Amino acid sequence: NFEAKVDSIMKLMTLQEKIGQTAMYSGSWDQTGPIIGSNNGKYIREGNMGAMLNAFTVKGTRELQQIAVNETRLGIPLLFGYDVIHGHRTIFPINLGMSTSWDLKMIEESSRIAAEEASAEGLHWTFAPMVDIARDPRWGRVSEGAGEDVYLASQIAKAYVKGFQGDDLSKHNTILACAKHFVAYGAAQAGRDYHTVNMGEDELRNVYLPPFKATVDAGVETFMSAFNELNGIPTSGNKYTLRDILQDEWGFRGFVVSDYTSINEMIQHGFATDSLDAARIGMNAGVDMDMMGSVYRKYLKTLIAEGKVDKALVEDACRRILLAKFKLGLFDDPYRYIDEKREANTKYQPEFLAKAREIAAASLVLLQNKNKALPLSKNTKKIAFIGPLVKDEYDILGNWAAKGDRNGQAVSIFEGVSEYLKPHQILYAKGCDILKEDRSGFTEAIAVSKKADVIVLAMGEGHHMSGEAASRTNLKIPGIQPELIKKIREANPDKKIVLVLMNGRPLNLSDEVNLVDSILEIWFPGTMGGAGVADVLFSAYNPSGKLTMTFPRNVGQVPIYYNMKNTGRPIPEHNPKEDYKSNYIDVPNSPLFPFGHGLSYTTFQYSDLELSSNTLSFSNAITASVTITNSGTMDGHEIVQLYIHDKVGSLTRPVKELKGFQKLFLKKGESKKVTFTISSDDLKFYNNNNQYIAEPGEFEIAIAPSSDFKFKHVFQLN
Ligand code: IFM
Repeated sequence: NFEAKVDSIMKLMTLQEKIGQTAMYSGSWDQTGPIIGSNNGKYIREGNMGAMLNAFTVKGTRELQQIAVNETRLGIPLLFGYDVIHGHRTIFPINLGMSTSWDLKMIEESSRIAAEEASAEGLHWTFAPMVDIARDPRWGRVSEGAGEDVYLASQIAKAYVKGFQGDDLSKHNTILACAKHFVAYGAAQAGRDYHTVNMGEDELRNVYLPPFKATVDAGVETFMSAFNELNGIPTSGNKYTLRDILQDEWGFRGFVVSDYTSINEMIQHGFATDSLDAARIGMNAGVDMDMMGSVYRKYLKTLIAEGKVDKALVEDACRRILLAKFKLGLFDDPYRYIDEKREANTKYQPEFLAKAREIAAASLVLLQNKNKALPLSKNTKKIAFIGPLVKDEYDILGNWAAKGDRNGQAVSIFEGVSEYLKPHQILYAKGCDILKEDRSGFTEAIAVSKKADVIVLAMGEGHHMSGEAASRTNLKIPGIQPELIKKIREANPDKKIVLVLMNGRPLNLSDEVNLVDSILEIWFPGTMGGAGVADVLFSAYNPSGKLTMTFPRNVGQVPIYYNMKNTGRPIPEHNPKEDYKSNYIDVPNSPLFPFGHGLSYTTFQYSDLELSSNTLSFSNAITASVTITNSGTMDGHEIVQLYIHDKVGSLTRPVKELKGFQKLFLKKGESKKVTFTISSDDLKFYNNNNQYIAEPGEFEIAIAPSSDFKFKHVFQLN
């Protein structure tokens, strides 16, 4: 139906108008890179622009849309896109944080709300979700993804797409999602942003591609190519990934947009001789829309005339872009998303804020809780809150916080805890800055700490320290904050100290685990962050988050992730330090905190695993079950994880792989049986011939509270 409509309009279009649809330019605010061509009105009038980024609000989009509709020959409406990554106005925790909730429903709800708010300001399209697997915490963009695991990241990717796109794109409150950055961007060498990626087919197919495939299965409408090269070929000029895999193998019918000037950057990569050549490579490879590069607009016509680009490819790109516009209903009503009343009434709805608070609480990970320092009691005489992030309402939104208000809208930790304590119970000192080497606040902070019964430190990274172009080689808590932690412990040897850690990546906490009692990882928890944190500190919400990225002991272990390969010389259990084994001479191989780890204020007991059969066939499934008992004193959620190890494969398989999980709520004393169904489909991987298959043989299986366990059970696939 839509295809026929696209055909009818394509028949009326000149070649230049078709090329025009493939060009995207930025509104003049929120730049993330160089602006090439600032004369947006002119391009729109000439029919030389199909989409805009960073242009929103009802007023702004109406003005621009009116030009497209009223002042061009065919009146083709513009598409407005923006980085709505973890919320639009109501900001949710950063995506790495949301992933640690392991709560697909909540994640879908967050993107539903984001779509609601974004579409009310004229937006049709978000450049999200980012589904890059990330195993190197030096890379700043780990904060935007769902962590290191293929299975979990794939489920989360689908949840975001469903939330943004809903079940009907023509509704005024749904927006196009965009799976980015295609592909392997997260594997940048040395964790340095935009850096080279070299990886074999095994890792590409079995680790980095699956979350993207999951978004295609979920019906994602657009893809973004990436900045990095992959095996010598920039991903914005990579026919193998864009045409052979995405279009031909996966049957993707949406369109691909380049990342910001990433087509042009093929010149710097040393892959294109000049802009003309870059346009040729990008279009031939399968990038349909040029974000900010101007090279399609300038050169496609010449390239077609010279026979270097087949006109049919440009027509296909234009067709894909128009199809998205039809699906959004823009040809029926270009102003469908432009409604003052909706704009005024949609943002910061009380139910959005309530959801943001709930998600913030569900995203927190209690990494350590010695001496039961948490939860805090509302009856404590004096609690000292110390650190540069206690009163912060700015960094708490995290990076890529769209139009989140950094000037007072967000609930700080201080405001959050003030809901639970009377003013006379709260002591405060900033102590130091996140980065500045100014120790003048130390004396006051130490004095304040001495007056308190319990000490809560709120420290970590600034929001700009993660996200794009924010790689770090040092994974310690930045600046002089670690020094202050040490001094506060020295001044208070016997007091309970809680570290509330705000940051966008796994950090090296090897010193802090010995200096403080409890560590609560809060990521950047968003608009309602401080309230969600307080709910957990005072046990209105029992923490349930579990890590989706491994925390290393030091930066030298990086990249470190739970589902590595065994090597030919794995470390023996009885002597991990044995010579000539795959180990380090200075630290153990194990991480500080493993994937899947997270504590609760209650305790959960797992009974022994029961398998319905020890043999699985290609046509019949088996089940694996355990009974989980809340054996502690508080109701709470538990994230139950299913792991499998394919012992021998035609390609070596990881030592363990997450294959399922369930998030349960158990009242204190309650038991529930958790059952997972396992079929041969769950055991599939891409073999050396790129066939997606399960191979007969022996598999180990476990149901566990984290990835840190030893297998005891096996089954056969026959
Ligand atoms: O969506 C982003 C992308 O993740 C990084 N470069 C800029 C794009 C648009 O802002």
